[in-house]
Amino acid sequence: MTSVAIDGPAGAGKSTIARAAAKQLGFIYVDTGALYRTIGYACLKRGISPRDSAAVEGILSELQIALRFLSGEQHTFLNEEDVSELIRTEEVSMAASHVSAIPAVRAFLLDLQRGFAKTQSVVMDGRDIGTVVLPHADVKVFLTASAEARAHRRWLQYREKGISADEQEILREIRQRDENDSGREIAPLRRAEDAALLDTTELTLEESISQMISLIRSKIS
Ligand code: DC
Repeated sequence: MTSVAIDGPAGAGKSTIARAAAKQLGFIYVDTGALYRTIGYACLKRGISPRDSAAVEGILSELQIALRFLSGEQHTFLNEEDVSELIRTEEVSMAASHVSAIPAVRAFLLDLQRGFAKTQSVVMDGRDIGTVVLPHADVKVFLTASAEARAHRRWLQYREKGISADEQEILREIRQRDENDSGREIAPLRRAEDAALLDTTELTLEESISQMISLIRSKIS
């Protein structure tokens, strides 16, 4: 069993790069952000404020969250409902960001995340995989890019979808999210001491994927 932990800030291309690497290596790709999003979604559905830690803690025992891999793709289930698409809205992103700062939520998801890596080889991405969830991962990568590069990529994605957006505004939001993720008290985003750094600021997506795969192969062969 081999485990690869990939952490980094929002918008660095983690999920695209991690998914592509997992596919080439024949490993399962686990997107842990989806788990926090699912709890955020459950709060919104129940009319609970994602900032109300006591209320959020109170519903955790009612939540059965499962990841199932259907033709290699991760699907997220909440009490047997496939919520994979429903958790991708802006509202849910914000709710996920709030619930992820609640210690009981992180504790609740810890065993679930560790369980995946016990029975299969995984590429797992998130914010605290190399530092907290899988501190003994075989490979750890901290994937990052400058805030400007991440904002520009996000802007291009919006443009491709025909959505007009202000790049400076996107940059401000990215800086805000970086601050939230790195500044929170519990499991803040930080590079594990033994994590390799992959900075994709100057790289294309294809170059980033191939560097990620070479990096992983160099550590596990
Ligand atoms: O990567 P994402 O945008 O889907 O993550 C959603 C939220 O969950 C984000 O605010 C950070 C948080 N998160 C976390 O705290 N720890 C993780 N391992 C993964 C995500």
